This record gives sequence, C-alpha cells and structure tokens, in this order.
Amino acid sequence: MTHPIPIRKMTFEVPATEVFNPLYIAGNATLSYMHTALGLYVVHLEPFIVKSLRKVMPLIRDEALKEEVDRFCRQESQHYQKHADFNELILARNYPGLEARIKRVRDDFDGYLHHRSDRFRVGFVEGFESFTSQNALTLLASGLYEHKRSEPRFAGLFKWHLFEEIEHRNVAYDIYQHLYGNYLVRAGLCWMAQRHLFSFYADCMRLMSAAEGERSGARYRTTFKHRLLFTRVDPFVKRLRTMLPGYTPHHLRIPAGFATLADQLSAQATSVQ
Ligand SMILES: [Fe+2]
Ligand SMILES: [Fe+2]
Repeated sequence: MTHPIPIRKMTFEVPATEVFNPLYIAGNATLSYMHTALGLYVVHLEPFIVKSLRKVMPLIRDEALKEEVDRFCRQESQHYQKHADFNELILARNYPGLEARIKRVRDDFDGYLHHRSDRFRVGFVEGFESFTSQNALTLLASGLYEHKRSEPRFAGLFKWHLFEEIEHRNVAYDIYQHLYGNYLVRAGLCWMAQRHLFSFYADCMRLMSAAEGERSGARYRTTFKHRLLFTRVDPFVKRLRTMLPGYTPHHLRIPAGFATLADQLSAQATSVQ
C-alpha cells in the first residue's frame, strides 16, 4: 500500500517564453501575480524547510514520525525543483526591483539557517505549513485551476503542489509538538512566518502590476484595494486560526474526492514511492 505521503515525480511541460501570458490564472492580474509570487517564494522557502528539518531528524524519537518527516522533505524537494523551471519565464520578464526583493528573501532564509535555533526554524516552518494547508484547500475547491482562462500547464503545477501540501499538512505541526510544544513560541512564529510570506506577495504584486501595466495595459494592473484584500483581509481568519491555543491541522476537514484526486495525480506521475 502507498504511504499517505507519496513521493510523486512529475513531468510538466513549461510554456515557451514567446507565448507566456503573465495572466495565467483565470486571466486575472491579482490572482496570477499572487501565484507567481508563491512560485518565486517557494524556491527559497522549500530548500530552507528541507535543511531545517533534516538538521533535527536525529532528535526524533518516533519512527513513524521520522518517516513522515523524510517524506515531507522529499515532497517539498520535488515542489521547488518544478517551480524553478517555471520561474525562468517570470525572471525573463524584467520586473524592475524584483531581483533585489528576491535577494532579501534568500538572505533572510540564509540568516535563519545560520544564526537561529532549531526551535525557531521548526516553528517557522510550521507557521507556513499551517497557513498553506488551509489555503490549499480553499484554492483547490475554488475551481481556479479548471477555469477556461487558466493556463493548463501552470494550473497543473499548482494543483499538484497544493494537493501535496494537504497530504503532508500534519507533519510540521507534529514535529514541532514532538520536539518543543511551546504554544506561545509557536503562535509567534506563525505570525512571523506568515507575515514574511505576505509582505513578499504584496511587493511582488506591486512590482509586477507596475511593469506589466506599463507594457501591456490596464488589464495587467492590480489595484491597491485588491492587493490589500488578497494579502491582508482574506488571509486574516486562516492566519488567526493557526495562532489559537487549540489549533491543530489534524482537525482540518478534508473534502470527499480527496482520495480520487490523489490517485489521479499518482497516475500522472512518472514514478511514485
Ligand atoms: Fe511545497
Ligand atoms: Fe509544505
């Protein structure tokens, strides 16, 4: 029987630079730039996740959890490698200020790896995971990846990635609880990690809107109101939930049809372990 956290090796065709349309999610600027920001972010976040958790692996005293952490790391490794290919298209588009903003993210994660404690890193990872698993459920249910104006190759990439975020939703929380368990530290790191992500989202959306709006017209712009809605207002309840004392991802409601989608993705994979 396959483990509930399977390692799928996927092959995605990347669109050619000449035909790439930056409004690849539902033809909508705000939603597309938000996905673009996520793709740019995870190629720095996910290697940080893997390194942070590999460091504490010898401290885990539970064999089943050890295997889950190993699988979690291997899923994340697949994610960032695939996003890196798609990111080439984005980085070729010349967004003034974007390179410097990405460098800040990279420097932050380098600093956390070298100058912070294991507890900080594991809590920080948990802070992301607790938000992204909830958000993955919302995005997958939204129908955005089946939308007629969504680019199928990008949609396929995000659908696979977000689905696996749900598959490994409990792992970061479980390892944090197993090794540390301090509630206030966990809540503080949720706040910090999620703020780090959303400030990057907001900056990317602003930079992309300005550059694409200038060269391609009004449809390619996002408004301040939309950016505020997507990076502050909309995530507020999900973020708050992760910081409450009773929070656990084990209580997330997983919709019917989840197993079918897991099988479909596994059938698309070139290998499953
Ligand atoms: Fe991931
Ligand atoms: Fe994840």
